[in-house]
Amino acid sequence: MQSTTTLSANTQQYIDIEEKYGAHNYHPLPVVLDRGEGVFVWDVDGKRYYDFLSGYSAVNQGHCHPEIIKALIEQSTKLTLTSRAFHSNLLGQYEKYVTSLFGYDKVLPMNTGVEAVETALKLARKWAYEVKGIADNNAIIAVCESNFHGRTTGVITFSSDPSAKHHFGPYTPGYVTVAYNDLANLESVFQNKNVAAFLFEPIQGEAGVMVPDEGYLTGIRDLCKEYNVLMIADEIQTGLARTGKMLACDHENVRPDILILGKALSGGVLPVSAVLCDDEIMMTIKPGEHGSTYGGNPLACAVAIAALEVLKNENLAANAQEMGELLRSEIRKLNSPFVALVRGKGLLNAIVIKHINPEAAWDLCLTLKENGLLAKPTHGDKIRFAPPLLITKEQVMECVGIIDKSLQSLA
Ligand SMILES: Cc1ncc(COP(=O)(O)O)c(C=O)c1O
Repeated sequence: MQSTTTLSANTQQYIDIEEKYGAHNYHPLPVVLDRGEGVFVWDVDGKRYYDFLSGYSAVNQGHCHPEIIKALIEQSTKLTLTSRAFHSNLLGQYEKYVTSLFGYDKVLPMNTGVEAVETALKLARKWAYEVKGIADNNAIIAVCESNFHGRTTGVITFSSDPSAKHHFGPYTPGYVTVAYNDLANLESVFQNKNVAAFLFEPIQGEAGVMVPDEGYLTGIRDLCKEYNVLMIADEIQTGLARTGKMLACDHENVRPDILILGKALSGGVLPVSAVLCDDEIMMTIKPGEHGSTYGGNPLACAVAIAALEVLKNENLAANAQEMGELLRSEIRKLNSPFVALVRGKGLLNAIVIKHINPEAAWDLCLTLKENGLLAKPTHGDKIRFAPPLLITKEQVMECVGIIDKSLQSLA
């Protein structure tokens, strides 16, 4: 399956040890990294690469951003974990900061993205029974075809990707799937009074950067309001300046009822996620009903504040917008016969590869790696191009050169 790339003995040794002792639940590109700074990462042989994945959009602020690392180091010498059995001097400060930044009454802090998704689903169900008045155990949550919201048994229940679900059943009831980017379908599902919430990605990242039509987000907002259904935006990948605005929902000035954040909330330093909403929803959860040992720990609070400050202070949303436009237009100009299309928003982009070889996208990623750029295919023929948001114009142009050279060698 893998096309020929010669690996150094040094590199091979790290790969072998992972293969032998680690679960085989990923299929990584054969590169072993040991250092990162800004838009770059280095392998164990000292070779430098542009990182065009950014930890699946967790490293929006660039690798090892000095301000974020400073906050991490300073806080790690003082206090890292209290659990929520006690208060900490940083939790309230972080909660005030993040709720005022995004304009919600309250936040519930968690760690990984999927935990925040689970939290949002639990909040939606509580709200359904205690506010909307749906009969117990009857709440339904609408989700989209080809969604990706994480890997728990609850969340894979409503995945449409067979490899995410196969032999992980039985699945949990209470979900209905609608077509993505299809408001008529959504409205038809909303006829069922037991629909409590609609969970969606403003751009479907894992599905291959599927950008919906202009007006889709506004349409969701209007329908959710009309049918008294909670609008839950999973902005774990699209949020935090990635698409050229602080939130992808900001492109249509739409405010979801529940906002889910993760990934870049720590700039790739720690697992930090959050669910934001107003009191009517958040206050349905009472002490003891939900939580996490690490959720809202002081180290995470200090890091998250620093990570959000970097996004604001360095105008990373505006840079993502500008650099994204440049990247897409320059790749289009290459006119490569192997690029069926280029799509994206800000610096969340994908190219779709057109080639007789079904492994062409993987092979192209190997060639890109040889030429100094790391990217990974998703769903076979799509390659995501999502560098850290501080990339400069000169760097984008250099990367387009690498992409051009690599595409030419596909023939
Ligand atoms: C939109 C979206 N939601 C949820 C998740 C899950 O996040 P995590 O891997 O941190 O659990 C991801 C991860 O890629 C994602 O892209």
